Amino acid sequence: MNPFELGEIRVDGPFCDREEEQRRLLECAGSGANAVVFGPRRFGKTSLVKRVQERLRVEQGGVAMYADLFRVTSVESVAQRVARSIYAGIHRHESLLDKGRRWLGQVRHFRPVLKPDFLDPAGLGVSVEAASRSIPPLELLQAVFEDVGSFAERLGRPVCVALDEFQDIVDLREPEIEGLLRGVIQGQKVSYVFVGSRRRVLLDIFARRGRPFYQSAVSLEVAALPLGELAGFLSERFAAGGKSCHADVARFMAEVVAGAPYYAQALGFLAFSGSGEECRPGDARDAMRRLLVQEQHGFEAILQGLTDVQVKILRGLAATPGESPTGKEFLARCGVSPGGAQKALKRLWDLDLIERKKPLRLSDPVFALWLREE
Ligand SMILES: Nc1ncnc2c1ncn2[C@@H]1O[C@H](COP(=O)(O)OP(=O)(O)OP(=O)(O)O)[C@@H](O)[C@H]1O
Ligand SMILES: [Mg+2]
Repeated sequence: MNPFELGEIRVDGPFCDREEEQRRLLECAGSGANAVVFGPRRFGKTSLVKRVQERLRVEQGGVAMYADLFRVTSVESVAQRVARSIYAGIHRHESLLDKGRRWLGQVRHFRPVLKPDFLDPAGLGVSVEAASRSIPPLELLQAVFEDVGSFAERLGRPVCVALDEFQDIVDLREPEIEGLLRGVIQGQKVSYVFVGSRRRVLLDIFARRGRPFYQSAVSLEVAALPLGELAGFLSERFAAGGKSCHADVARFMAEVVAGAPYYAQALGFLAFSGSGEECRPGDARDAMRRLLVQEQHGFEAILQGLTDVQVKILRGLAATPGESPTGKEFLARCGVSPGGAQKALKRLWDLDLIERKKPLRLSDPVFALWLREE
């Protein structure tokens, strides 16, 4: 069995580091503080939050609700997804089923439907059906969140609600939704964790004066994994799979993916399957070449959605990260005018393709490598 994980990792499966992030998030979850978790794509935000929620449940008897708002298309389906997460959260505590039913008055607008789910550790999946169609969506949404608050109040144990890809509510273009949500969750004894991968949109919700969620959550950045920890994790995974990987080779793999968790797993997977009893330097290099081929279509698709100027700047930053992208020399080398550069940089940041803080570089280290090698 290959010991590397290409899909979602189990909440109790092998996990590299994130100790400090877990501690801070668990502290928020246990104390009813809100947090906003952000970081580049596939850096492990969802895995981190789900893991912390599991720890809250096991270590503190808390209740964890997790709703994914990815590409949600209506206010009603936000309400529905949150209602489902409430039922799913409660169903993990047998002792709470009765209380949940009594305390969750408004969620009755949704009927839980249980079905076998082989992917769920409890073997049971929960979905919901709208029991009543007569309520206006925003009211329904408010009612669902009010229920979470009163449930937590009576429960007297920590309740944590994670709203993944939270920024997608902005795309609903429903001007009242942010104010309504903020109003209803304010003062609740619930820790809301807002997670997202579109950082510009997500952070604007919390950092823009005048917006309802302004400064209402502790921010927690999910950055690259520390290379030493990651190298140790990779060696340890090889050992778990019955192969060996020398510290130097593991270090090379951690470095070449610059600590990016998803790529580390993918590279580990390829290196493990391509090596004999020991993963040698050549196996790791081969695996890296295969990883670049594997990701090629995705990278090409990103480039296709960009203008020439944007692509030139990306290539420039990939070649010399950290260089001022508005500097004369840099722009001359890229063949871009200063005016064009500003606009392109803003767009690249909006698309989450580059980091905003210094040193300026691409968010995705393997994409940068691919651009350099191409
Ligand atoms: N701490 C970690 N240790 C080991 N592997 C990890 C870790 N964090 C993330 N991963 C790996 O990276 C993959 C992507 O993680 P995850 O889906 O949590 O990232 P994400 O930031 O939520 O991504 P997206 O931006 O797509 O929502 C996981 O499936 C897992 O294989
Ligand atoms: Mg995620």
